Amino acid sequence: MEAEVSGRNLYMPQLATIVRITEETHDTKTFTLRFVDDEYRRQFSFRSGQFVEVSVFGAGEAPFGFASNPNRKEDFDITVRAVGRVTRALHQKREGDVVGVRGPLGNHFPFEEVFGYDILIVGGGIGLPPLRSLIEPMLDARERFGRILILYGARTPADRVYKYLLDQWGKRQDIEFLQTVDVGDETWTGHVGVVTTLFDKIQVDPARTVAFTCGPPIMIKFVIQGLLAMGFDPDHIISTLERYMKCGVGKCGHCAINHKYVCTDGPVFSFKQMQAFTEPL
Ligand SMILES: Cc1cc2nc3c(=O)[nH]c(=O)nc-3n(C[C@H](O)[C@H](O)[C@H](O)COP(=O)(O)OP(=O)(O)OC[C@H]3O[C@@H](n4cnc5c(N)ncnc54)[C@H](O)[C@@H]3O)c2cc1C
Ligand code: FES
Repeated sequence: MEAEVSGRNLYMPQLATIVRITEETHDTKTFTLRFVDDEYRRQFSFRSGQFVEVSVFGAGEAPFGFASNPNRKEDFDITVRAVGRVTRALHQKREGDVVGVRGPLGNHFPFEEVFGYDILIVGGGIGLPPLRSLIEPMLDARERFGRILILYGARTPADRVYKYLLDQWGKRQDIEFLQTVDVGDETWTGHVGVVTTLFDKIQVDPARTVAFTCGPPIMIKFVIQGLLAMGFDPDHIISTLERYMKCGVGKCGHCAINHKYVCTDGPVFSFKQMQAFTEPL
């Protein structure tokens, strides 16, 4: 029997047109996708932290987190680093080409649940896109949150994604934004060091702050260690986990960690939930 939710075949991709391609770095591009079917486009919505399976016909399918503001209705962004077969094939596509999209899939970042809290966001490299999808609706509802602090780290100045957006965030008076690079260049006058070195530059009250982090596994490990050392409750540390995925809908078992499927129980987990895993993350 085919897997269905509300009459929708979970394995059936919907066609979407690539309406815009933005070069972010030497190996990373943002693709703005718009569903071809008007009715499907009108009823489509997603939450920050969810992901889509994108099929590049003839190459295969791969999961990508939503990178844009869920309040934006006509289209959405994914930001993709070219690492292998599917991602390189996607990078060959041009504006006007069509791909397949399944989703939205997975759980999402807590949003209404953190109204009233200070928010600390820590992103590394290609981990910023899903966090952007959280930051932008938070800025839309700015009065609902306390302080919003954003820390972003990348390998080099050129490896930073969304440079235009980082400039805007740096100028805003209603958020605190700090960025760093592992290795500077002749143009870079900012901070140098891994993202956790920015922790020395901020003061937060862990009791009234919820931290969100996304990035390479090694970065997440050190960020979580740093947050715990600052006194954060494991329940107030929210992260995403990446696992090899196939079906994306809890059927094949590829993404299992212990008794959880990252594709349906995740990809968003609190550190408290992660502590229950006996497998190494
Ligand atoms: C929930 C979820 C959300 C994701 N969101 C994004 C996103 O927003 N942007 C993005 O660029 N990627 C994202 N990824 C990772 C992305 O799915 C993989 O990069 C993609 O599946 C690789 O497919 P491929 O066919 O191009 O590479 P393959 O041909 O399968 O692999 C080529 C090489 O890349 C390596 N590789 C494969 N996957 C990864 C990975 N995740 N990290 C590092 N190296 C890898 C392989 O080990 C191999 O050496 C996400 C993954 C998950 C599970
Ligand atoms: S990818 Fe198939 S169960 Fe998660």
